[in-house]
Amino acid sequence: MEKFVLSVASHKGGVGKTTLCFELPFLLLERGYKNILIIDLDPQANLSEKFIDDEEVKSKLSVSEFLNYVNEHEFTKDMMITALQLLDEIIIKYPFKKDIISVIGSNLTLSKVKLKMQNNTNIIFRIKEITSIFFKDYDAVIIDLPPSVEFLTILALSISTHFIIPTTLDRDSIQGIDDILSLYNEIHRFYNKNLSFVGIIPTLVDNRTLIDKHLKTALREGYANKVFQSQISRSTKIRESLSFKKYIGEMYSQNEKIIQELNLFTDELLTKIKNSNKNRVGQVS
Ligand SMILES: Nc1ncnc2c1ncn2[C@@H]1O[C@H](COP(=O)(O)OP(=O)(O)O)[C@@H](O)[C@H]1O
Ligand SMILES: [Mg+2]
Repeated sequence: MEKFVLSVASHKGGVGKTTLCFELPFLLLERGYKNILIIDLDPQANLSEKFIDDEEVKSKLSVSEFLNYVNEHEFTKDMMITALQLLDEIIIKYPFKKDIISVIGSNLTLSKVKLKMQNNTNIIFRIKEITSIFFKDYDAVIIDLPPSVEFLTILALSISTHFIIPTTLDRDSIQGIDDILSLYNEIHRFYNKNLSFVGIIPTLVDNRTLIDKHLKTALREGYANKVFQSQISRSTKIRESLSFKKYIGEMYSQNEKIIQELNLFTDELLTKIKNSNKNRVGQVS
């Protein structure tokens, strides 16, 4: 089993980031992953609201308390120990069959905390040091992000081993991919040598429309093997299951096209992560 910390990033909203972050932990459990941690780094807290009920999102401790604590304390051994305890305390356990998904939620306070932190680049190294210890207990960590290229994106990519970019097939979404890729180059240089770009996954695809077909071809021409072979189609079934806050595989049969696509996507993701790890081992650093 490949361990990873995966960020799901895009400069644009409505491309299915949160949806992928919601479905992925269940798809990973089905593949034998055990300890899975989900982190919501979007102040909008859409992902948190799928795992936790709305009132709880407001009242529970969230990632903001952790970030604020690290931002406001001197970096000492004691502080690191307390920060790690705090991370344990803010986790919400989401039971699924015989397993438990660990969730670190978000809420609107995160936008305030972010403003306080964003002029402090040292904070990224501190958080990285703390999370690299904390993540050791998990087989997979998945981080959902706000729809922008900003401090929280830099932070997430700095503490991740991998990232993917979901995109819908429209010009705005596709044009924004380069913004994230240039950010990736900077982060790789300054903050995180271990970060790999896994690829671009087309989402909310409508195969019947010519424009989607045309833009998918353009995407492959532009980004070649960095575009996933799999794709996620537009599906009312996924919207239905999301509105019930349920994993789609729990509501519909495995024969459904959208479930097959999610399975193919997950398998491809895991293969790509495995290959990127192999290449990394081969690299002379
Ligand atoms: N494959 C899909 N088919 C149909 N609707 C989808 C699909 N993926 C996401 N959606 C819907 O599109 C909207 C945006 O998705 P979301 O995952 O919240 O995007 P993001 O996090 O990138 O803003 C949501 O209302 C979600 O229910
Ligand atoms: Mg979202």
